[in-house]
Amino acid sequence: MASVKAAILGFGTVGQGIYNIVHERREHFKQTLGVEIEVAKILVRDASKVREGIDSSLFTESFDDILAIPDLEVVFEGIVGEDPAYGYLDQAIEKGCHVITANKVMFARYGQELQLKAKKKGVQVGYEATTAGGVPVIKTMQNLLRVNEVKQVQGILNGTSNYILTQMRAEELPFDVALKAAQDLGYAEADPHNDVSGEDAFRKLMILCALAFGEQPDWNKVEVVGIDGISSEQIEEAKAQGLRYRHVADAYRDEATGEIIAKVGPQLVGADHPLYAIDDVNNAVTLDTNYIGTLTMVGPGAGMYPTASVMMEDYADMLAKPEKAVSLA
Ligand code: NDP
Ligand code: HSE
Repeated sequence: MASVKAAILGFGTVGQGIYNIVHERREHFKQTLGVEIEVAKILVRDASKVREGIDSSLFTESFDDILAIPDLEVVFEGIVGEDPAYGYLDQAIEKGCHVITANKVMFARYGQELQLKAKKKGVQVGYEATTAGGVPVIKTMQNLLRVNEVKQVQGILNGTSNYILTQMRAEELPFDVALKAAQDLGYAEADPHNDVSGEDAFRKLMILCALAFGEQPDWNKVEVVGIDGISSEQIEEAKAQGLRYRHVADAYRDEATGEIIAKVGPQLVGADHPLYAIDDVNNAVTLDTNYIGTLTMVGPGAGMYPTASVMMEDYADMLAKPEKAVSLA
């Protein structure tokens, strides 16, 4: 039985999910993947925090300790922001490790660089978890792009915003109370301003644009509006008219100019709209393609296990098809 060494960067919602799945599914992975995964080290900001039930010697505050792991095979990244995450993954790839990230803030900006570097080094980059949580939109798009063109990408890409809008409407909770609940459930970003301002959905949309269209639009030309300006009164008014607020991200290539047009913001939708019924933490992604037609995927857009599951699925893909890069780069 081959044993593979893994490192986890970050031990919050996502990092703990990875750790738990690796341990809970140890026998399953031995049988299905033919490997035993050993978590060799976990990088955190504060290694002195008490973390019940876990060997404290696993934790480190120094990335050098991660790079020093002999025969390190894969790095799962669940830390926050562009830096130092990009530098860490760049160094892990340089060392010859596969990397799997949930960090869309970092990946929207540096995804292409990481994928190109990984290709040169013969390793792979998994980034399913960066976009739409447990909804397998990246993998699905990579597969269908082998045959199709994607003309438009549209959907709900922030679970926290959708959860808050749902709680404000269905439970009549104030914005702050609904946001606190989303934080307690592990859905919200470390800085929840990113969720409610539309920034998180924007970064995810940029990742989808890079994959769907081979490029991102000029970030400065994308209109980004969050849900933080929607009042309880507006939600009540909409409800009385049979309408619901949805936070929608949308991108398509303008056929006349070739330019990618992208927009992120709240929309009022009626009962006949495909996003009307998408409640709670769910995300929905609709792809308009030339051969398949319109394809919609719906599922949990945030949370410990949906996110960690798709990261482990990325690794399972890498083990199953070592000759095929997970990314298109
Ligand atoms: P948390 O805030 O729960 O945890 C972050 C973890 O990263 C903490 O353990 C923290 O250490 C560690 N960390 C943060 N910055 C650094 C740093 N510079 N160096 C070392 N360690 C660091 O975040 P989440 O787990 O919720 O999210 C992690 C990443 O995954 C983010 O990029 C997020 O956008 C993304 N993501 C989150 C999802 C979710 O549902 N929560 C879903 C999909 C993606 P310490 O414990 O010492 O503070
Ligand atoms: N904060 C993010 C959300 C996590 O609510 O969608 C998943 O990317």
